[in-house]
Amino acid sequence: MDIFKIEGPVRLVGEVAVNGSKNASLPIMAAAILGGGETVLKGVPHLSDISVCGELLGRLGCKVSRSSNGDLCVDSTTIDNPVGEYEIVRRMRASICILGPLLSRCGRAEVSMPGGCAIGDRPVDMHIRGLRELGAQIELKNGYIIAEAPNGLRGKDIFMGGPFGSTVLGTANVLMAAVLAKGRTVIESAACEPEVADLANCLNKMGAKITGIGSPRLTIEGVKELRAVEYEVIPDRIEAGTFMAAAAITAGELKLTNCRVGDMMAVVDKLRNIGVEVEADGDGCVVSRNGQVKPGDITTQPYPGFPTDLQAQFMALLSLAEGNSIVIEKIFPDRFMHVAELSRMAANLRKEGAAVIIAGVKRLIAAPVMASDLRASAALVLAGLAAEGTTVINRVYHIDRGYERIEERLNPVGAKIERVSV
Ligand code: EPZ
Repeated sequence: MDIFKIEGPVRLVGEVAVNGSKNASLPIMAAAILGGGETVLKGVPHLSDISVCGELLGRLGCKVSRSSNGDLCVDSTTIDNPVGEYEIVRRMRASICILGPLLSRCGRAEVSMPGGCAIGDRPVDMHIRGLRELGAQIELKNGYIIAEAPNGLRGKDIFMGGPFGSTVLGTANVLMAAVLAKGRTVIESAACEPEVADLANCLNKMGAKITGIGSPRLTIEGVKELRAVEYEVIPDRIEAGTFMAAAAITAGELKLTNCRVGDMMAVVDKLRNIGVEVEADGDGCVVSRNGQVKPGDITTQPYPGFPTDLQAQFMALLSLAEGNSIVIEKIFPDRFMHVAELSRMAANLRKEGAAVIIAGVKRLIAAPVMASDLRASAALVLAGLAAEGTTVINRVYHIDRGYERIEERLNPVGAKIERVSV
């Protein structure tokens, strides 16, 4: 198991290229099930979650490989085992997004129910409801979702809003089932996240007929079959936002390339409000801070609101603000594993239900801390860059799920992060 030793404080200055999006890649890899040939995906990052997804597709019967130029190839000519086993699903919840495409392609799918995780309960009832609306017969047995549609699926008008708004992977699942259904499907209250739009664009390239992409109403005219294609995934807006926060927390100046600032307006707006400069530049932007961090308030929301996947990183940043800030979590009300760890580094945080009140401190102080979920861990890396002394982060595998060799990307611009195997 690896740990990180991070020396701080440092100032990050230089250029960092943002990788392709993990959360776009995972459902698009699942969409390759529908292609029935070799799908070639460009820009898919080298992450442990991507490897797990490759293993999952391999168990279904697909051949998954990386070509020498880094492209990820998924050959789904043969699918002979439409089963998502617990052993894999428990390692990565996003495995659930094979349910829709398997059902659509094979008329049957068995996928383990994902359990809760470090960020909360994470039910999948909306996925199941949406697929049932399309005519799937679904039962839950021995911890598995067993879905059947022996005579195919039928298009329908479906409302997919839930208690916390839309669902990203639920929308992806129903969308991937609807593309081959008979007739027209309308998904109302569809998730508008850029990753869902990227999936829809990929499906259209494969021959699907989806309109309303990027809006809360997706209309899908079912087609008879899809073909395998070559497709490049969008840049990772959460990785980009994490690097923006890294520039801000270290009072540095980072030029981010391969970064779609237009997908990140809520984040950019928040940064500007708290005294961080963000200037669009070529295919990315320059992020810098000269003065103090000003206090701010953040409420996480579905896209285009502020993303829950950047809540922890921005809490680390606001912990150094000149005054009091508040962070309200409206997507995953229990996503606060980082609060206790940041407090160990001298942040002054008080949790009140699904909110955290942050009294800004002058400095953070290094401490041994524990990575929990992926984004909470990223927040600890940011805090470690700014804190005085050597921060030791245990359970670094959480970070490796979503950030490709983060130390090799940040050290050239001034970070002092050492990966040590223990
Ligand atoms: C996706 O998870 C992302 N994962 C998450 O990123 C991200 O935090 C989340 O969307 C929200 O943006 C991937 O894309 C692989 P949801 P997902 O269904 O789709 C409730 C990361 O750090 N809900 O949009 O599973 C749910 O509990 C990860 O990269 C139901 O009630 O999230 C939550 O409150 C973590 N019933 C809200 O909806 C359901 O059936 C939104 O969750 C489904 C969801």
